[in-house]
Amino acid sequence: MSEKDTDLLSQRGSESFPESAILSSYNKYLSNPFHAKDNPKGIINLGTAITRTMEDEIKVRMMQGDALRYGVEYQHYYNYSGIEDLRKATADILTRQLAPDNPVSPDDLIVMNGAYSCMESLSYALMDPGDAVIMPTPVYPGVFKTFHGRSRLDIHPVALRAKPDSEGRTFQLRVEEVEAKVNEAKATGRRVRAFILVNPQNPLGEVYPPDLLLDLLNLCAKHKMHFICNELYAMSVYDADVAFHSLLAFKELPDPDRTHVIWGMSKDFGLAGFRVGVVHTRSAPVKKCLVELVNSMCTPHLIQKACAVLLQDKAWCDMFIPTHKRRLGILHRKCVAKLENAGVAVRRGEGGFFVWVDFSPFLKDHTAEAETELFLELMEGGTFTRCGSDMSCQDPGWFRLIFSLSEIELEEGLNRILKVLQNRASKQILT
Ligand SMILES: Cc1ncc(COP(=O)(O)O)c(C=O)c1O
Repeated sequence: MSEKDTDLLSQRGSESFPESAILSSYNKYLSNPFHAKDNPKGIINLGTAITRTMEDEIKVRMMQGDALRYGVEYQHYYNYSGIEDLRKATADILTRQLAPDNPVSPDDLIVMNGAYSCMESLSYALMDPGDAVIMPTPVYPGVFKTFHGRSRLDIHPVALRAKPDSEGRTFQLRVEEVEAKVNEAKATGRRVRAFILVNPQNPLGEVYPPDLLLDLLNLCAKHKMHFICNELYAMSVYDADVAFHSLLAFKELPDPDRTHVIWGMSKDFGLAGFRVGVVHTRSAPVKKCLVELVNSMCTPHLIQKACAVLLQDKAWCDMFIPTHKRRLGILHRKCVAKLENAGVAVRRGEGGFFVWVDFSPFLKDHTAEAETELFLELMEGGTFTRCGSDMSCQDPGWFRLIFSLSEIELEEGLNRILKVLQNRASKQILT
């Protein structure tokens, strides 16, 4: 950044001025995106978590006439924090899918323009700059950026590591390590305000079991910390043997006023462009504060109405969700098989749109710089990916690849990646 930039911007403004290999590569992708027919030499995006699994079904339902219908009421102000139809329909789907024995109340939901805004408004409502926050890493960079960059909180990462434990499991989250981090943060004199979990985890794809969630809830209650659980991929669990357990399903929460869940339509309904996220909270003061904050973060009325119509269509949702999960499962299996057949290790995942893969054997040395070099080489080879250092991973060489693409894109994208890796492997053997 130039001196002129820093002179113009505030300190926090200049700190959130991202200049990275990831961003410039993403911009390159935007100016030259792959299209099977129109631009087969374009860049394939295996880095942005979108899903193409249900594009046609969503389009057909949206065009049916009742969802995207125009009315003069859309020209005026409305209930920014969520029109009643959408809050009711969201409460119904969350109850049916995630908490059948513990109905979700529409009065506990606040609608915002995406999960990003949900995280940002919770951090504004619950914490002051300089407060400490505990967060397992690696983690989706937006989570880190929101709580650290924008909100200026002091992040204490619980670094999950690649080294297998005694049972051969990698990147394991343990409540004892979270508590040790809480005590470490307290020893710095900071106010420890919150624990942030993404479940299903992004980028690991792990679905956390209810006993671990309960231990974490109890830990947060013991230390009077908020528990913010980002469940954006709750209905994208593709492993048919794994049941997702939402915090919404806990009948007895140890500290209901400090337990908040984030969900949205960007992932489970493939509607990232619609900008719909929801916060679920039972705390009256937190609700009041969020309702005030949402004025600058609201989802347009017309879109809220379209989403309400979609979610109210129970028969359609009952077709959509299992089909989405099944198609994710098929693509996940194809992706893992192709990578493993080529000798790439893939960490076991259960939910989300991504695989977490170990490219460390292909690095020139075991550093973040060597990882960035590989990232740039993959980009030159025609694929945009996300690397571990971008997700605060401590072990260089791990990458996150999105598999929820069209079959052609996925196949071609993986071919391009494997070509780069094989090229590196053959050079390493020769040198
Ligand atoms: C865990 C997580 N949280 C938040 C977001 C951003 O979601 P939205 O597009 O709804 O703001 C993403 C997007 O990839 C995500 O993976």
